Amino acid sequence: MAGKEKQPKIITDKNQMRTWTRAMRTQGKTIALVPTMGFLHDGHLSLIQEAHKHTQLVVVSIYVNPSQFAPSEDLSTYPSDFEGDIRKLMAVPGGIDVVFHPHNLYDYGVESARDCAGNGGMAAVSCLEESGSGHETWVRVERLEKGMCGSSRPVFFRGVATVVTKLFNIVEPDVAVFGKKDYQQWRIIRRMVRDLDFSINIVGFEIVRDADGLAMSSRNVRLSPEERLKALSINRSLSKAKSAAERGELNCKRLKNLVVDEVREAGGELDYAEIVEQESLEVVEEIKSPVVILIAAWFGEVRLIDNMEINI
Ligand code: PAJ
Repeated sequence: MAGKEKQPKIITDKNQMRTWTRAMRTQGKTIALVPTMGFLHDGHLSLIQEAHKHTQLVVVSIYVNPSQFAPSEDLSTYPSDFEGDIRKLMAVPGGIDVVFHPHNLYDYGVESARDCAGNGGMAAVSCLEESGSGHETWVRVERLEKGMCGSSRPVFFRGVATVVTKLFNIVEPDVAVFGKKDYQQWRIIRRMVRDLDFSINIVGFEIVRDADGLAMSSRNVRLSPEERLKALSINRSLSKAKSAAERGELNCKRLKNLVVDEVREAGGELDYAEIVEQESLEVVEEIKSPVVILIAAWFGEVRLIDNMEINI
């Protein structure tokens, strides 16, 4: 259906963002936030359509957050195309109201610049701390952030929880929509919102896949055609394990082996594969209640994550 395209308002200043939300709220409007790092694909756009079901107005944030990248990670090569993103956002049915696109959420003016030697004695440091920002307040969801992506990326969830808190405090939404593609992230945000009494309804949206089964990701553009073909083993392996479980194989070691073998045979380098309880993310040995299989694997220089819920 060819609708009239709506031009979103672009706000770069955090005070202006908050002023807009408060003005809308005095008019009785409800607001959803969809946080992203840009280079938007249909997975992101589906979250926006989901957001429209919950509120009258939708804000999309586009901000590549330095505090969730370690210095060795791909911050400097993270893809971006702001103009392309705006075109895509204008084409979403119902459009969006605001793009919040701050330049630097950790710039507190002249007094902020000092070195970050006091990062709590943590071995892991983010790109933000390496750059000497004075930011020193962090949100940690201590247990849920520990395994899986938290083990291989020690500063990642601390950076995510902190920037999402900042975005929540700036945008003040009623609802925020996250993808279950980043399953651990989604669970961490839900727990953080519960534990810290944010008055925000967190909605989780299903994984959006390309026709060949690969979960959509901004990082997929960095895969060569051969690597992309190999990466299809991820979804294949998860589907295999899920059907085996549905046929009665409830032993997690054997199910995990199905996943690991399929990905390794295709040439992927496994970071982790885990079967965990859906809410607590506790590792499970025998399936007795709903679980999720999570995987992270490298194909060339690209690290991909994916997961599948098994509801038995
Ligand atoms: P980003 O990777 O840009 O993802 C933004 C949102 O889109 C996340 O909630 C993510 O789970 C969702 N998403 C990505 N690919 C998806 C897919 N194939 N199907 C469904 N949802 C998908 O996640 C982040 O950014 C950042 O960590 C952020 C939360 C913005 C904090 O910086």
